[in-house]
Amino acid sequence: MQKSSNTFWHQATIDREDREKQNGHSSTILWFTGLSGSGKSTLAHAVEEELHRRGCRTTVLDGDNVRHGLCGDLGFSEADRTENIRRIGQVARLFVDAGIIVLTAFISPFRVDRQRVRRMVEHADDFIEVYCDCPLEICEQRDVKGLYQRARKGEIKDFTGISSPYETPEHADLIVSTGERNVSDCVAEVVAHLEERGLIQKA
Ligand code: ADX
Repeated sequence: MQKSSNTFWHQATIDREDREKQNGHSSTILWFTGLSGSGKSTLAHAVEEELHRRGCRTTVLDGDNVRHGLCGDLGFSEADRTENIRRIGQVARLFVDAGIIVLTAFISPFRVDRQRVRRMVEHADDFIEVYCDCPLEICEQRDVKGLYQRARKGEIKDFTGISSPYETPEHADLIVSTGERNVSDCVAEVVAHLEERGLIQKA
């Protein structure tokens, strides 16, 4: 894997702790996982809005967007999804070092890939897995992008939930019922979790 030999790690003089101190909050990866249409992106952006309102430094990495650039060369085979998540994990880690709360919205269907990202980070609080729990039937009913219908017709292969698996998290830090609850309730749950862990200040 590692092909870049003769390279040396340069230690930054301003480190993560300095940045967190200046920001007034901890940095972390809020990893939203769930089926397509389960509300990951909606929730990630809505949580970001609330955190931004509170003066936190944030960014969102979103599956559909990242696949236009950084991961534009990847498809939806198991190997490509694994590589997608590996790259996102590395990018997210850079944001954590930069003192930022990074919210990621990827299906990330495989447990082992999510666990690999968890292992990439230094502290338990650096990776918070948020399962957007929304039954397939509801995602399919919503079908905002019309992709489920196309997948059912066989026009899209390896579609998560239809012809490719989604492995439900066994040890999610937080399970949000995005199929039942409205967005603002879900936002409140996520933000309360960050407060409870002492990563952001209580409002
Ligand atoms: S992941 O599995 O590698 O984590 P990612 O979150 O980046 O997926 O991309 C998922 C998005 O790509 C979906 O929301 C959907 O809009 C689109 N998409 C296109 N083809 C597929 C497919 N075969 N399976 C799932 N999503 C797909």
